[in-house]
Amino acid sequence: MSTNHKIKRIGILTGGGDCPGLNAVIRAVTKTAITQYELDVFGVEDGFLGLIENRIKPLKFSDVSNILDQGGTILGTSNKADPARFCVDYASDGKPIFENVTDRVVENIKRAQLDVLVCIGGDGTMSAASRVAAHGVPIIGVPKTIDNDLLHTDVTFGFNTAVSIATEAMDRIRTTASSHSRVMLVEMMGRNAGWITLYSGAASGADIILIPEIEFDIEAVCRRCIERSQHGKAYTLVAVSEGAKPKGGQVVVDRVVQESPDPIRLGGVSEVLSHEISQRTKLECRATILGHVQRGGTPTTYDRTMATLFGYHAVGLMMKDKMNHMVVWKNGALGSVPIDQVADKQKLIPLDDTLLAACRATGVSFGDEVS
Ligand code: F6P
Repeated sequence: MSTNHKIKRIGILTGGGDCPGLNAVIRAVTKTAITQYELDVFGVEDGFLGLIENRIKPLKFSDVSNILDQGGTILGTSNKADPARFCVDYASDGKPIFENVTDRVVENIKRAQLDVLVCIGGDGTMSAASRVAAHGVPIIGVPKTIDNDLLHTDVTFGFNTAVSIATEAMDRIRTTASSHSRVMLVEMMGRNAGWITLYSGAASGADIILIPEIEFDIEAVCRRCIERSQHGKAYTLVAVSEGAKPKGGQVVVDRVVQESPDPIRLGGVSEVLSHEISQRTKLECRATILGHVQRGGTPTTYDRTMATLFGYHAVGLMMKDKMNHMVVWKNGALGSVPIDQVADKQKLIPLDDTLLAACRATGVSFGDEVS
């Protein structure tokens, strides 16, 4: 086994929103590092917050046993702790006061004598990680997110689980929609990317799929609901992304988390649409927001496998001295790209996506059809 003799101690952190498969990556990194290279492994608590507050603890082999199938992250995470813009206090008007605490993070990494930091996260985590890397800390990134919106990798772990949960929810909603002859809207997560909605919509046979990449026309959406009700299909199943918006309109914001580097939280578009469709068509409508159920619980077999491959490859990369790279899965093989190529960027669904075309060909409306 080739060994990079400079590396003796490594740290692992999980950043951003939690995601099924995080524990499987932590386990794969830790076990590979200990058994293959005799490294000392340390876990950072609550993502970058743990580096800011110096909460770093040893991770032993036994700490990562029996966690492969567990949801969440044994290390904890935070989506409010970007070292370059960290909320240190609040002004009298309640607004957060930010400071750049990157030096403190670098100091704590040095104090813990970590030779490499494995950062498991999405675009926000990769962006924070690339800034820390610019201060001389070697980083390896692992692509996590249920949203599947990281550039340069075909998949992120967590996405498959979220799609499975959303598909099951759609299957369940279909039977109640058909029993009551209703228009039922199911809202999926994904921020400004519609991957979860497209895949679960396709897998559950949704009649209408509304994604951020295709602005919808409310008249086209209503037309499809009415057509169905007039042609023997008394119900309509609509998969809608939290980031879907009408032509020339705005997304629906659920809340603003001021301390977060990505402060806008989307949510509620299905409820807005439910009222509008019912007013325009007089059909009975209901909305279900799936929310965090898409992120919780045990990962699917696929995500456990990908997470294991990603964690194993992360250690391989550092041993080959391929620092400041993120693991990727491209064309059916493991690889890597420089972290700064994924930082703060989003992979959206291209309009020539094959699944999108297959859905259109099988009669799905994307709310953009002209009459
Ligand atoms: O990025 C993962 C994600 O679950 C998004 O799909 C969603 O918009 C966001 O995080 C929700 O964030 P929070 O957990 O802070 O409400």
